[in-house]
Amino acid sequence: MKSSITLDKYAPVGQIDERIYGSFIEHLGRAVYTGIYQPGHPSADENGFRQDVIDLINQLNVPIIRYPGGNFVSGFNWEDSIGPKDARPRRLDLAWQTIETNQFGLHEFMQWLDKVHAAPMMAVNLGTRGIDAARNLIEYTNFPKGSYYSDMRRKNGAEAPFNIKTWCLGNEMDGPWQIGHKDAVAYGKLADETAHAMRIVDDTIETVACGSSALTMPTFGSWESTVLDIAYDQVDYLSLHRYYGNQDNDTPNFLAQSLDLDDFISGVVAICDAIKARKHSKKTINLSLDEWNVWYHSNDHDAQDAKWQEHPHKLEDIYNFEDALLVGSMLITMLHHADRLKMACLAQLVNVIAPIMTDENGGAWAQSIFYPFMQVSTLGKGTVLTPIVKSETYGTKEFAAVPYVDGVAVLNDAGDTATVFAVNKSLDTPQEFTIAAGDFQFDQVTLSSQFAGYGLKETNEDGHMRLADNTSYYLADDGVHVTLAPASWNVFQIKVQ
Ligand code: AHR
Repeated sequence: MKSSITLDKYAPVGQIDERIYGSFIEHLGRAVYTGIYQPGHPSADENGFRQDVIDLINQLNVPIIRYPGGNFVSGFNWEDSIGPKDARPRRLDLAWQTIETNQFGLHEFMQWLDKVHAAPMMAVNLGTRGIDAARNLIEYTNFPKGSYYSDMRRKNGAEAPFNIKTWCLGNEMDGPWQIGHKDAVAYGKLADETAHAMRIVDDTIETVACGSSALTMPTFGSWESTVLDIAYDQVDYLSLHRYYGNQDNDTPNFLAQSLDLDDFISGVVAICDAIKARKHSKKTINLSLDEWNVWYHSNDHDAQDAKWQEHPHKLEDIYNFEDALLVGSMLITMLHHADRLKMACLAQLVNVIAPIMTDENGGAWAQSIFYPFMQVSTLGKGTVLTPIVKSETYGTKEFAAVPYVDGVAVLNDAGDTATVFAVNKSLDTPQEFTIAAGDFQFDQVTLSSQFAGYGLKETNEDGHMRLADNTSYYLADDGVHVTLAPASWNVFQIKVQ
């Protein structure tokens, strides 16, 4: 099969906001305890932070991390997580029906973020709590000194304010499973009033309102309209969440789900812009895809889990090779929307639907999905060029015409390097793929890599998966010609003029 991507020098989609390479740590399962925090572990530092896990996270180059939930935040009292550890309460976490010991909390998270070179995306509890707890929390984190909560922070060891910039106004408040779930009017009012109060304490913050928990939510569309109608002036970003699974073992249809993500993002952009027009507003609401991933492998296990354990094994999806291909396609889709998608969080980061796992033997390892994420987060910097991709298509039970090849090109800020990411979704046929130079001149191929040759259900517990060189390319006058293996993730870097 033949396919191509043409690099259009004069048609940028938009500058990439690198916060789209964010991730997420929730107090859920073993994300925190025995994930990032494990006092006594051989690699743990004096704070109990696991260095082996930090090393893997640093390879992923994650610029922002959402915390502390997720569903967890809707029952969380932030005050439980500060002060002397031996005085912190053990609480029932109603969201996941586990015991939360609060031994890792706000200060520990902020210290740990320094080690992984990431900024916080902090969520406030708009489930069981509201304006009062949120305004106290931001006084604690962002007010310099001389007030009740800022001085409490100083007493707890942090003289300088944390200056947390990005705040999520609750989590998935459209979902009936959410503790304190609300209808769109009630949530819109609460989000508006909460953000208003928080901005009185610190007017430099930016806020993310809850959009829909999935495109399939029955309230999708009306939820976004109503919330933005009420809270437009207090909201900077609207969130969307999306997870996919291959429950039916239908890989072609599973790999096509990036089209669903594309529809979801386009739909939310359209709604934001419709409200903007209706309000005659000059302000544009951008998007935060602050939970996305594959999530389904662990569902059966989790349905049988005993309740009220401390950090049980939960949502421990073991990812296979086809999951990595879909994650790659989702990243490409996100880049296609670089003009409006400004933040995103791979959910999650460690042990819970995560690219990084820790095991019973004290080891830490990278899942299959680690590799495409790492390559995009480290190499996908600069401006996305309008994707002109030509590919044959296939049909599935949900999608009429799925391109076999997904692709996107990014031009770096210096304008001298183009990076192309591409997935071949054909399970049995290679692609004779052309990267057409368009108005560029191609000087040299500096990277030609592939993630290929693994079984669709192959997993990486033993760490055997590797990115490999793709030596099949040659540079011609019209561009680069290369063979994409069946079922493959591919990355090319080209010196351009
Ligand atoms: O990421 C796991 C869970 O998925 C989060 O807690 C929740 O927001 C979503 O439903």
